Amino acid sequence: MADASEGCSCSVGVILASVAALLITLWIFIRPKRSKTLPPGPPTKPLIGNMDIFLKGDGFQRLESIKKVTEEYGKDGMCTLYVGHRPNVMVSDYELIKKLTNDEKFTGRPRGMQDIHFRRKGLLFTEGELWKEQRRFALTTLRDFGMGKTWLQDLIIEEAQELINDLEAVRERPVNPNNYLTPSVANVICAISYGERFSHKDENFRRLTTLIGQNVTLAAKMQAMQVYPWLRWIPFTRLRQNYLALQKNLKDVGVFLRRLITEHKNNLEGEPRDYIHAFLLEADRQKTKPTTTFTDEQLEKAVFNLFGAGTETTSTTLTWAIIFLLENPEVYKKVQAEVDKVVPDGGFPNLEEKESMPYLQAVIQEVQRLANLVPFPIRTTTEEAQLGNYHLPAGTMVSPNLYAVHKDPKYFPNPEKFDPQRFLDEKGQIKKVDGFFPFSIGKRFCLGESLAKMELYIFFASLLKHFNFELAPGETISSRKSIFGIVNAPVPYKIIFKRRNN
Ligand code: HEM
Repeated sequence: MADASEGCSCSVGVILASVAALLITLWIFIRPKRSKTLPPGPPTKPLIGNMDIFLKGDGFQRLESIKKVTEEYGKDGMCTLYVGHRPNVMVSDYELIKKLTNDEKFTGRPRGMQDIHFRRKGLLFTEGELWKEQRRFALTTLRDFGMGKTWLQDLIIEEAQELINDLEAVRERPVNPNNYLTPSVANVICAISYGERFSHKDENFRRLTTLIGQNVTLAAKMQAMQVYPWLRWIPFTRLRQNYLALQKNLKDVGVFLRRLITEHKNNLEGEPRDYIHAFLLEADRQKTKPTTTFTDEQLEKAVFNLFGAGTETTSTTLTWAIIFLLENPEVYKKVQAEVDKVVPDGGFPNLEEKESMPYLQAVIQEVQRLANLVPFPIRTTTEEAQLGNYHLPAGTMVSPNLYAVHKDPKYFPNPEKFDPQRFLDEKGQIKKVDGFFPFSIGKRFCLGESLAKMELYIFFASLLKHFNFELAPGETISSRKSIFGIVNAPVPYKIIFKRRNN
């Protein structure tokens, strides 16, 4: 007769065998299967696919490991990485990127957590006819309201002056530069969309910039939910807390924006003065059209996107610029000398003077090349599409890998070196360099490119003219370390802004 311990070990054995069988079944059936029609890639893992590659190490470590894996396992500059069960075709061949970004079939955006709030409205997370019509409208309106015009230049200079005043108030004290740059950059978007800038001390404005900052941090912490949206329902977890905080945050920004829109509705006379005004006039013109895309919800989400896409990107580029200058004292000295030669003492740079500062422009471009603020935007195919020799079904994610091209020695010899000279010709004038496209290219390139270039130029030159940057005691900086959330940002640091005597 078998004793009790024998019975017990037998049932443990059965349990272990069942667990092993379950794991093998999961491995076989849940492990994302590679599609034969897509470019090759590394082996996938059960449930997560290749997500481990996207989540390994800090920002630059991840970007570098994606680049290495795609070089090792990909073919013809294409490699498929599985995000959970969803394939994402990473493209690192610049010629292929140019081709695909100009093809209408590659202008979709993936579905995800952002749809809970944005509901496929606005500018960033839209596609098809709505995206086309609204993008066209946004581009024309932004152009009409000053991208490249003196009104906008004067406004950015006014912001730069307020920034210098804010920094003057904390001179000699260690501060995180981003806390001062973000309100200045956000205010430029305020003026374009709402027609007015706010005082940096305005309670509502401070709340808006805090909410936008928190938004970015919270969204960055929720990347796993993009793949497994059900994670948000698990109670008492950090993920759920972040999810609820983000939803509240998004709602609060929505309330702020709706108030601005309502104020405009009560004052629509005269020529359009800003984005919201122009939009409401167009909505009125189209009010009898049943399929109009000019709705209140569309307006709120579009303005939200202008803030979201236009604030953190520009201010973070400037925080990178300070790091690169502190790490490269000769470049710092040379660029400051150029600014001093062109911009009169006590003054601020204007657009006419930009051509006289080619080295400054080259420094900004080299910062953008190495910082890689948006290293790989994600698109989807809107219908079946051909990419090289591969066949992509509708809805496949495709990512032009800007980071990989910006580090490709074919376009940028000695790519790790911070060398603004590579953007200058033999006469010291700025030259176009193939493979440099921090704002992306093609049909869906950055809508705010001209505005961002104006802001980077005016803010950066103004900071150089009025201050010296000094690392705060005990602080460290590194241009090789980053945090990759919504944008690729430097590890936060503190510096001292020392007022210059001019
Ligand atoms: C240094 C600053 C900036 C950088 C590096 C940057 C970069 C980018 C990139 C790489 C994309 C993705 C394009 C694609 O999918 O291929 C993008 C999209 C976008 N950007 Fe920017 N951007 C910057 C500033 C701005 C500013 C100031 C605005 C606001 C006016 C803005 C508004 C947008 C919008 C609305 C989109 C979505 C376009 C679409 O999906 O059709 N960006 N940006």
